[in-house]
Amino acid sequence: MSEPIKVVVTGAAGQIAYSLLYMIANGDVFGKNQKIILTLLDIPPMMGVLEGVVMELSDCAFTLLTEVIPTTDVAVAFKDVSVVFLVGAMPRREGMERKDLLSANVKIFKVQGEALNTYAKKDVKVLVVGNPANTNALICSHYAPSIPKENFTAMTRLDQNRACAQIAQKVGSDITKVKNLFIWGNHSATQFPDCSNGTVDGKPVTDLVDASYLENEFVTTVQKRGAAVIAARKMSSAMSAAKAAADHVRDWWIGTQSGNYVSMGVVTPKDNPYNVPEGIVFSFPVEIKNKQWSIVPGFKINDFARSKLDITTKELLEEKEEAMAVCNADAKI
Ligand code: NAI
Repeated sequence: MSEPIKVVVTGAAGQIAYSLLYMIANGDVFGKNQKIILTLLDIPPMMGVLEGVVMELSDCAFTLLTEVIPTTDVAVAFKDVSVVFLVGAMPRREGMERKDLLSANVKIFKVQGEALNTYAKKDVKVLVVGNPANTNALICSHYAPSIPKENFTAMTRLDQNRACAQIAQKVGSDITKVKNLFIWGNHSATQFPDCSNGTVDGKPVTDLVDASYLENEFVTTVQKRGAAVIAARKMSSAMSAAKAAADHVRDWWIGTQSGNYVSMGVVTPKDNPYNVPEGIVFSFPVEIKNKQWSIVPGFKINDFARSKLDITTKELLEEKEEAMAVCNADAKI
């Protein structure tokens, strides 16, 4: 059994965390030989609810949990942390513009970036789930300059899982046979779910499904799946979001299998193989070895795909500008 690692989940009293905490504590993310100190961060009004979550974690009698720490203090939460799931965010309220949501949330992620910079281990791995996830991850990394930018990622794995499920259903296949469907860009309605490099049981998806479906209904179904779940459940995706967060961090921790790549929002490096502007958090196909991701080069991008990548890039550049304006205005107060 390895030494315990400290793992933080923010928004720990919320609905995604309720499913995610089970998976982490059960060994589904870091393996069945990794003990865990689980720290739960939320805001003061949620401490009563969080107390109930702590009781349930205790009642699950998980053998891997050495300690559970509920807190409202970022200094307590992030001290010497190895892995952080940044799930907590302000939800969209009725009448709230997208801009207002972005403004409220980037302030949260600025504070959390500064706290990670001060208290976390320098090799901490950070997954941002809270929306707008890509831009929140960018802001968090910007305010944590002592931590490598590669250590901040945003979740697009739910979108990838949704894409794989749609294709598996369409061709009547077992989902384990569906590989290399990727999400490019932002976790938003401009994301581009791309089948052009995907396979089912080794056969190209493009040979199995007609191009018109792949370029139209498939893309919009994946882009709007979150809204469809809200319309049906009256609440946003939670179990599937938690499963995707667990998949994302498990692959980061343990590595991807050869030839089976995954989508992750990462801070775009200069000279990336797909000519995406430097310094935004953009979802690419990545492979992971020794806990380091790298963008997989060489996937074909046809004219249709390039036009989709351009749309989502434009949105991310605009979000970045808005977010930096909010942070800079905040700094002047
Ligand atoms: P929820 O509203 O059930 O829970 C959010 C929790 O975050 C609440 O307990 C709240 O008190 C807490 N919180 C708010 N501000 C905080 C702060 N400064 N520090 C710590 N905790 C804070 O929401 P849910 O359903 O769990 O979703 C969480 C986020 O995940 C939302 O932003 C949602 O839009 C996003 N999401 C992202 C997905 C993705 O694929 N990237 C998929 C689904 C949801």
